Amino acid sequence: MVAVSAMRRRCEGCRYAPGLMGVQISPSILSADFSRLAEECDRVAGAADWLHVDVMDNHFVPNLTLGLPIVESLLKRVSTPVDCHLMIADPDRWAPGYAEAGAGSVTFHVEAAHAPIRLARAIRAAGARAGMALKPATDVEGYADLLPEIDMLLIMTVEPGFGGQAFLDVVLPKIRRARELIAGRALDLWLQVDGGVSAGTIERCAEAGADVFVAGSAVYGADDPAEAVRRLRAQAEAATAAAPWAK
Ligand code: DX5
Ligand code: ZN
Repeated sequence: MVAVSAMRRRCEGCRYAPGLMGVQISPSILSADFSRLAEECDRVAGAADWLHVDVMDNHFVPNLTLGLPIVESLLKRVSTPVDCHLMIADPDRWAPGYAEAGAGSVTFHVEAAHAPIRLARAIRAAGARAGMALKPATDVEGYADLLPEIDMLLIMTVEPGFGGQAFLDVVLPKIRRARELIAGRALDLWLQVDGGVSAGTIERCAEAGADVFVAGSAVYGADDPAEAVRRLRAQAEAATAAAPWAK
């Protein structure tokens, strides 16, 4: 596990050491018990690479979760780096605040951003990795020229808004095309998948080209969330090792 301070120091210019690349697991605390969030975060400490925090505003998505004050409190309490997924309207206004608070990665939805390049630069300037998310029906090709501006591309494998939904296989070809775009341009860019990622689907995601895996119900629905993270990682690593894109 890498401490938040180390992550942020290495994030100067948002370029990490190559040693930090590879399969990463980011448990979504959306499926955790919100009445004791910090203890729920502790249950995956040492096993997870990130804590995925889903911020929803009941405008961009039809659900309401938590916002900056709770993220600030968590950042003071947890040692695992925080990966904020902002499912909110007007991320141009709100996203840099999450980076300034100390989140290691801040992801906005391109469908909601007014000026995605300016926003990605603002997130990086505030010391976090900049992530850009695409809903299932948003094509990746139209954003190919933006990829050098970001550190992570998040391809949603469910419609954003709720945990526990069924994985959308229909998105797998887009993951493959995104991986080809990344390889073709030799970009230092992580490819995250989020939604319905479980023991039954993670290998398909890894084979298609994902390297950062968000899992909510598959982790927090397990009796031992840390063990669930370790098992998901082992599955993803084995599938990646066998995948043509990783050779
Ligand atoms: C959904 C969220 C996800 C969600 C995933 O909009 O962005 O992060 O927590 O939950 P599972 O893994 O249960 O699909
Ligand atoms: Zn998410």
